[in-house]
Amino acid sequence: MAKLSVEDLDLGGKRIFLRVDLNVPLAGPPPEAAGPQPEAGERQVADDTRLQAALPTLQHCVKSGAAVILASHLGRPKGKPDPKYSLAPVAKRLEELLGQPVPLAADCVGDAVEAQTRSLGPGQVLLLENLRFHPEEEANDPVFAGALARLADCYANDAFAAAHRAHASIEAITRYLSPAVAGFLMRRELEALGRILDRPERPLVAILGGAKVSDKLALVERLVQQVDAVLIGGGMAFTFLRALGHGVGRSLVEPDRIELARRVLGEASRRGTQVGLPVDAVVAESPDDVESRAVGVREMPEDLMGLDIGPLTLARFTAGLRGAKTIVWNGPMGVFERSRFARGTVELARAVAASGAFSVVGGGDTVAAVHQAGVAEKIGYLSTAGGAFLEFLEGRVLPGVAALTDRP
Ligand code: 3PG
Repeated sequence: MAKLSVEDLDLGGKRIFLRVDLNVPLAGPPPEAAGPQPEAGERQVADDTRLQAALPTLQHCVKSGAAVILASHLGRPKGKPDPKYSLAPVAKRLEELLGQPVPLAADCVGDAVEAQTRSLGPGQVLLLENLRFHPEEEANDPVFAGALARLADCYANDAFAAAHRAHASIEAITRYLSPAVAGFLMRRELEALGRILDRPERPLVAILGGAKVSDKLALVERLVQQVDAVLIGGGMAFTFLRALGHGVGRSLVEPDRIELARRVLGEASRRGTQVGLPVDAVVAESPDDVESRAVGVREMPEDLMGLDIGPLTLARFTAGLRGAKTIVWNGPMGVFERSRFARGTVELARAVAASGAFSVVGGGDTVAAVHQAGVAEKIGYLSTAGGAFLEFLEGRVLPGVAALTDRP
């Protein structure tokens, strides 16, 4: 890798500021106040995938004799302390996974926290309270970054999922703690996603889905220039179908994106990139409807909406994966959280797994669908990132990656 990594640091006796992405879904009622709780209450981590993914770097730092100051955001607390977004339940789960105490500091900056970090012994871990309790974090404020930097002697970033954010703990802090090195997860993500952009084995097929085309148009525009074929399903497909003149009933359409979708299709055809769009859809009155049926996209009833790709589309998309050497996938094919509309997404996950291609899947929903299909071990790489995954594939420079120190 072109960036220095945590293995390049001599960590013995040092305090390391380790930026991780512990932004995980929580379940249960929130506690009364932010900060360390006598009991973490019933609030729990609902999905610890990102915690598990952070472990290798954390364990490496612990074993190397560093005192580890772990830092993360959680949710979007709008720059002020909010018990709903306390990292207390995360500290508790991390403690179980790591098998050693992970105390939670009451804040992430200030004299008390500084004293706490200085009292840490080699191999001990302290988790800072949610960075976003301070508006300066998202403002990439240099003074706040300096205060974070005072907590440690060296810096590593393992938060690929937040690398698209130019925030103080990701970008500005690297002006105070140098070198800024990559953790193992950051490295794995960059290597796996890099395989899509740099000399991928072809044919390279992209699968895109999800509700909103506006989130993905920049990515589709970029991908039609790079991939051999792109298969488009999910709610976003209906804007493309409208661009081709189809009536789509009450399906999700973003009228202000129809023209852009038409232009993307034109560009794909000029470049010879195949674009697969649904030829049929599973329709119903709403996602809650118990009645559903598959219809061709030329016969979409006016009063119904498409909520999954239909069986003919699934067969075509599956055939489209045959022979692929690399597959990248983001976004479900329908409302897969409801079993009536899950078939397209779940069966496609199985087809990706069976394809023999090197596959990379990103985005919380899509990764959840892969787990639901029971094929996670057969996927080449499951990214922990959502927004950063999309921006990386769009070819954008991620501030959190750019800020890392290049290998000499
Ligand atoms: C994510 O979940 O994609 C990252 O943690 C970034 O979160 P954000 O979109 O709130 O910045």
